[in-house]
Amino acid sequence: MIEVKHLTRSYGSVSPLTVLHNVSLKVEAGEFVAITGPSGSGKSTLMGLMAGLDRPTSGQVFIQNEDITQASENELSRLRGEKVGFVFQNFLLMQTLTALENTMLPAEILGKVEVEQRALDLLARVGLGERVHHYPSQLSGGEMQRVAIARAFINTPPVLFADEPTGNLDSKNGKKIVELLLELNRMYASTLILITHNPELARLSNREIRLKDGKIVEVVAHRGGRANLKLQSNSRSKKNVISRSKARSGSTRAGARTGNKRK
Ligand SMILES: Nc1ncnc2c1ncn2[C@@H]1O[C@H](COP(=O)(O)OP(=O)(O)OP(=O)(O)O)[C@@H](O)[C@H]1O
Ligand SMILES: [Mg+2]
Repeated sequence: MIEVKHLTRSYGSVSPLTVLHNVSLKVEAGEFVAITGPSGSGKSTLMGLMAGLDRPTSGQVFIQNEDITQASENELSRLRGEKVGFVFQNFLLMQTLTALENTMLPAEILGKVEVEQRALDLLARVGLGERVHHYPSQLSGGEMQRVAIARAFINTPPVLFADEPTGNLDSKNGKKIVELLLELNRMYASTLILITHNPELARLSNREIRLKDGKIVEVVAHRGGRANLKLQSNSRSKKNVISRSKARSGSTRAGARTGNKRK
């Protein structure tokens, strides 16, 4: 799904500061990977490179076997539109657009028409059916983040990147946002890569990649992963595996409607 090979990112030319050192990793389709590590360890830098928002100093990033580091600016923006969704800590909504218009925007950029109903469905699914014509200034933080999530899923991207999506929210709203991300992720059988400072959230992932000083220092497999969210903590891993495979079979309503996008 995503493969990162010997990725290095340095800033400056006179005495370059290297913030990511020769990082390699693979993320499988449908996987939920958490990226953790101290402030300044290179998490956002790594994610920006994986999502094609930034170019590496050396190394390669493949998304569904396509080398995005070789892509032209035009190819890259098409690739980002079709293959990746983003959710950021500060939501990054367009202030002059309503919740509905914000949600539709990435689809319109790709030239899609008749996306309004899908945007309305997504907004209803994130619990904002009654707020579709509100502007960001008329929404709470948690609501803004839910609009950002609806927007991130409008093009049904095979991979969703979330950089501390709960960082600006209180813990109750933060938990709701993560539940929503996981639910949508499961419905669309997409891959989720989440940066978080919260160890509880990281434990919900299948794999946690810990960075320090721009290097991967540890990879932790979390038994049960996201299934832990809904099931009791003492439930058996067998139960978790069953609930995960069910979730990925595409048998949910949304899965049946949109088809399984995973390649
Ligand atoms: N444009 C830039 N020019 C120079 N240095 C930069 C630039 N962007 C980031 N850095 C440096 O790269 C390092 C890694 O930054 P990055 O944003 O990836 O950290 P992070 O792990 O996401 O931290 P946080 O948890 O605080 O968000 C930091 O030390 C930062 O100062
Ligand atoms: Mg960061």
